[in-house]
Amino acid sequence: MADLRKEIEKRRTFAIISHPDAGKTTLTEKFLLYGGAINLAGSVKGKATARHAVSDWMQIEKDRGISVTSSVLQFEYDGYCINILDTPGHQDFSEDTYRTLMAADSAVMVIDASKGVEAQTRKLFKVCVMRKIPIFTFINKMDREARDTFELLDDIEKELGIATCPINWPIGSGKGFQGVYDREKKCVIAYFDTEKGTKEGTSTEIPIQDEEHLKELIGEDAADKLLGEVELLDGASAEFDLDEVQKGNLTPVCFGSALTNFGVEIFLKHFLNMTTTPLPRKADIGMINPTEHEFSAFVFKIQANMNKAHRDRIAFMRICSGKFDANMEVRHVQGNKVMRLSQPQQIMADERKILNEAYAGDIIGVFDPGIFSIGDTLTTAKPFKFEGIPTFAPEHFARVRQVDTMKRKQFMKGMQQIAQEGAIQIFQEYNMGMEEVIVGVVGVLQFDVLKYRLENEYNVEIRMDNLPYEHIRWIENEDINMDKIVGTSDMKKIQDLKGRPLLLFVNSWSVGMVLERNEGLVLSEFGRE
Ligand code: G4P
Repeated sequence: MADLRKEIEKRRTFAIISHPDAGKTTLTEKFLLYGGAINLAGSVKGKATARHAVSDWMQIEKDRGISVTSSVLQFEYDGYCINILDTPGHQDFSEDTYRTLMAADSAVMVIDASKGVEAQTRKLFKVCVMRKIPIFTFINKMDREARDTFELLDDIEKELGIATCPINWPIGSGKGFQGVYDREKKCVIAYFDTEKGTKEGTSTEIPIQDEEHLKELIGEDAADKLLGEVELLDGASAEFDLDEVQKGNLTPVCFGSALTNFGVEIFLKHFLNMTTTPLPRKADIGMINPTEHEFSAFVFKIQANMNKAHRDRIAFMRICSGKFDANMEVRHVQGNKVMRLSQPQQIMADERKILNEAYAGDIIGVFDPGIFSIGDTLTTAKPFKFEGIPTFAPEHFARVRQVDTMKRKQFMKGMQQIAQEGAIQIFQEYNMGMEEVIVGVVGVLQFDVLKYRLENEYNVEIRMDNLPYEHIRWIENEDINMDKIVGTSDMKKIQDLKGRPLLLFVNSWSVGMVLERNEGLVLSEFGRE
């Protein structure tokens, strides 16, 4: 028992969120480097190789046009067992990216210092807020000309509505970036001899009060600027309060450069110190505590068709309590079946390791013969169900029809299976039946995946007509009379397969207009189970 507790308490499971190109991959690589999980050679050999080595799924999958999904990286550092959940960006952005955040206990937000908060960060941030998980900010690329530091913090506070608390403060930016000032220790850490891909170079640490040496170390102008900023900052910024951090109301902020290894390890240490052990999780029988409950897990992602010849799927689950042992029998609650999980594996990019055991906080992938759905619960204890995973707002919509009307059955079967895996969402016109299907996706790549898979796996050719809608809202009011909703000219009433009403909009401002026109109407960007 003591061992179980020790194993679970050393785990830290988090996702990294950022806009593409902010430096998420580079930062992840540096974390792995500190943890000794990748060697120097892999990282300095050229970024292309290094990047594929850690964060990408199998190339074949990419070539086939199948969505590249999140992978999990596990490594040890300083007595911690760290699980990093990769959230795919670029054109791979999909509902899976959001769902990954449902499996994390905290998030690291990477922001490009020359850009501030960007679109994709904003979207992912909303999911973290919904879950009230702690968020830690790393302002990256300080080795390039950066925006004013106060302005960057202001941007986060205004754009995202979260208070910020700088843990350290950058000394200059671009060519003049020399290191950081540690606010707790009240000392300046200046770097020398750092090299791309290597560990942090030598650093010199001196107390900020030692003005004479400070000026020698970083130059008179930089020292004056720093002293002025620190004075201003101490008077203006939010007090550090770990409780507020853990509730997700306050984000600690560190500055650095992932590429040149300025401030990465400092950030990692602060982060690990402040972040949380695996969190309890809500279920229909109350909160499930990771250390005080038998094995339980929930499915947060289903990766289809990893091996086309076998049409197999991998279900990814987050272990929420207890210990997983490859030989044990578990109950799939939704399917009401007791089973042995087949081929449990830890998936590290393109490498898969068969597992014998895993603990609360860990992510495992198991072979799925087509029985699991997103949100399902597995446990060795008396059956209960974890709170479901919400459906996230798609941003692209298309009307989909099968070309050959005789293939209606295969078409619907394929659509429903692909929707069950969570790759697409299916809707229908309000009060119109399933004559035509409206498909919603988070990332446009999913449209290609849908077309490809229907043709290849179900032998159905489809026609897709894009629809102009970009915003979807679930109606939270129970017993709503859809006919009475006063809409706007760009609004469309639809329903999901369970008959729940939704609204589609072309313009975001129409959402506000419809709320104004219909008193008491409650709209949500997340679809509850
Ligand atoms: P992502 O995963 O968030 O999409 O970003 P990624 O780490 O791939 O980094 C995006 C680009 O930004 C890369 O350049 C990377 O080298 C660069 N980068 C990351 N961190 C820093 C940093 O701290 N400072 C600077 N100056 N650049 C950084 P690229 O042009 O895509 O590749 P490369 O040609 O530079 O290798």
